Amino acid sequence: MNTHQVSEDKTQTEDGGVKPIVFLKGKHIILRPMLKSDIPTLLRWINDPHTREFVRNQFPMMESSEEQWFDSLGKNREKQVVLAIEVGGKHVGTIGAHGIHPIDRTCSIGIMIGDTSHREQGIGTEATMTLLEYLFNTLNMRKIVWEAYGFNKRSCNCAMRCGFKLEGVRRKHIFARGRFHDLILHGMFKEE
Ligand SMILES: CC(C)(COP(=O)(O)OP(=O)(O)OC[C@H]1O[C@@H](n2cnc3c(N)ncnc32)[C@H](O)[C@@H]1OP(=O)(O)O)[C@@H](O)C(=O)NCCC(=O)NCCS
Repeated sequence: MNTHQVSEDKTQTEDGGVKPIVFLKGKHIILRPMLKSDIPTLLRWINDPHTREFVRNQFPMMESSEEQWFDSLGKNREKQVVLAIEVGGKHVGTIGAHGIHPIDRTCSIGIMIGDTSHREQGIGTEATMTLLEYLFNTLNMRKIVWEAYGFNKRSCNCAMRCGFKLEGVRRKHIFARGRFHDLILHGMFKEE
């Protein structure tokens, strides 16, 4: 193999490593498609008491259910976009746009920084801003919504920091932590 062929191999880094798969790029993060090999990590996060109460997973998530969910992603490519968040080559969370509506041009964002040691460092904000840019300027979304539980201050702060506006409160709408909590509704138009 000559040097020319080596430099043409786009899957290899200069030191012989494998180049990451990149779908969207932020300043410190990349967003890439989910891989089947992510399933064990997702299973750990989604069952973790420090995470599952925020993403409303009240029942144990089984490996088989997670695999079914993963398989469904490939079949609903135009209805939802789900991406892994990586920082420095480490998978730290997932972010997705769900319920993409072709007529209303709306969708909602869901995010989970599953690796708790990476929370509150601006990663959620950067991942959201990166996804928003794609949703507005590539998928031509008109309005994007973000719902959070009243007790999830980190999520509300992240939404506001990204430019979402408070649209309303569904009072005592969800049951968690032994009582009913408000559901906080945020929204953002492209021009905002
Ligand atoms: C909610 C969640 C997505 C927010 O993401 P995050 O990465 O933890 O939070 P942010 O990106 O908003 O972090 C911002 C914090 O980091 C700090 N920070 C450090 N560097 C920063 C930077 N470069 N840019 C922005 N903020 C930075 C900020 O000061 C801020 O702290 P503050 O809120 O006290 O002001 C995340 O905590 C999470 O996944 N939680 C569990 C699951 C969940 O709640 N999902 C959402 C369901 S609606």
